[in-house]
Amino acid sequence: MAGNGCSSLFGLLSVMALSGIMCVEVPKLKLNNGKLMPAIALGTYLGFDQGGVVKSVNKQLANVVMNAIDIGYRHFDTAAIYETEEEVGEGIRKKIEEGAITRDDVFVTTKLWNTQHKREQVPLALKQSLNKMGLNYVDLYLMHWPIGLNDDYTFSDVDFMETWRGLEDVQKSGLAKSIGVSNFNLDQLRRLIKEASIKPVAIQVEVHPQMIQSEIIEYAKSESMVVMGYSPFGSLVMRYGMQFPGPKIDEPILVEIASKYNKTTPQVVLRWQVDRNVVPLPKSTNLKRLKENIDIFDFKLEQYEIEKINQFHNNVRYTLPSFWQNHPYYPFEKIDNPQDNPFLNKRKQ
Ligand SMILES: NC(=O)c1ccc[n+]([C@@H]2O[C@H](COP(=O)([O-])OP(=O)(O)OC[C@H]3O[C@@H](n4cnc5c(N)ncnc54)[C@H](OP(=O)(O)O)[C@@H]3O)[C@@H](O)[C@H]2O)c1
Ligand SMILES: *[C@@H]1O[C@H](CO)[C@@H](O)[C@H](O)[C@H]1NC(C)=O
Repeated sequence: MAGNGCSSLFGLLSVMALSGIMCVEVPKLKLNNGKLMPAIALGTYLGFDQGGVVKSVNKQLANVVMNAIDIGYRHFDTAAIYETEEEVGEGIRKKIEEGAITRDDVFVTTKLWNTQHKREQVPLALKQSLNKMGLNYVDLYLMHWPIGLNDDYTFSDVDFMETWRGLEDVQKSGLAKSIGVSNFNLDQLRRLIKEASIKPVAIQVEVHPQMIQSEIIEYAKSESMVVMGYSPFGSLVMRYGMQFPGPKIDEPILVEIASKYNKTTPQVVLRWQVDRNVVPLPKSTNLKRLKENIDIFDFKLEQYEIEKINQFHNNVRYTLPSFWQNHPYYPFEKIDNPQDNPFLNKRKQ
C-alpha cells in the first residue's frame, strides 16, 4: 500500500491480529534538498565495555530492527564504528522481502569514521558500509566527527573541508541521497556552510535536558537544517554503568508534565526534542520501551513546559572524547583533568 508510512495493509493487519501491536505513523520533516526525514530514529549504538564495542549476539539487533519496523520506526541511525550496520541492514532487508515495506519507506543514516577522511577514501568507506548493510544507497551520510585520524589513531591534519568534498562526491554519484555532519561546533558548521558546494541537510549532536543546544538549533533553523539529537535521555538513564547527577526518571518537574499528558517522563523528554525541531535518536533494544519511545506523536508540550525542561541545562556532555582534545579540529571545550572523564576511562579504542 503506497503512501502509508506504516506497514502494507496486509502486513499491518497481520501484525495487529497476531500481537495487538499498533503501528505509529511518524511525521516527516522536509530537508533543505526536498527529501523527507522521519521525525524520530532508532539509535543502534550498543555501547562499549572492556572488550570494545558491544556486538549484537544471536541476531538480536536485526530482530529489534524488524520489531521496530512493525511498530512504526522508519529511520535508523548507525555508523561504521558501531559495528551494527550488518544487522540494521539485515532487519530492513528482511522486512522488504516480507513485503511489509519498500526501500523508499525507510530512511537509513550511517556515518564516516575518522580514519577515512581523505577525499578519495570517502566513496570507498561508504561502499564498505553499503556492502555490510546490503543496500545500494543510504538516505543520509554523516561525517561522524570533524577530526581526521591516521590508521594508528595518531592525529591527521586532513581538513574537514577536504572530507566534505568526498561527501559531496558520494551524493553526486547517488550513493547517499543527502549528506551532513555530526559533532561539529557552531564555528565549524558556519565555515562548512560558507565553503560547501552542497549544503548539509542535518547536524547530529548530543541533545538532552542538560545539553539543550539552543545556539546550534537556532542556527540550523536559520539555514533550514535539521538537528538530530543523540543520547536524548541524558541523565534519566544509566551511562557507563553509572547514574550521573541531573534529572532522573522520577524528576518531579518531569513527572508533573508527564501526568498532565498521561505519558512517561522519557516520552516527555523525547517530545521536548520534537517540539524544539530536534529529531531524537533514542536507543532501545527492549520491545516495551521501543513502543513507549515512538508513542509521542499524539500530544504536544506548551512553551512554558519546554522552557521548564530547558532549565536543566548545565552544559554536561556524556560523549566527551578528551583524548582528542589537542587535535586542531576538536569541537568541544577542553577539560583540565581528562583522566576524570568517564567516557575516556570506559572507552577502549
Ligand atoms: N553522533 C554521535 O557521535 C553519537 C554519539 C552517541 C550516540 N549516538 C546515537 O544516538 C543513539 C542514542 O544515544 P545513546 O544510546 O547514547 O542514549 P539514549 O538513547 O539516550 O539512552 C539509551 C539507554 O536508555 C535506555 N532506554 C531507552 N528507552 C528507555 C525508556 N523509555 N525508559 C527507560 N530507559 C530507556 C536504553 O536501555 P534499553 O535498550 O534496555 O531500553 C539504554 O540503556 C545511539 O544509539 C546512536 O545511534 C550518536
Ligand atoms: C494512559 O496511558 C495508558 C498507557 O498508554 C493507557 O493504557 C491508558 O488508557 C491512558 N489513560 C487515559 C485516561 O487516557
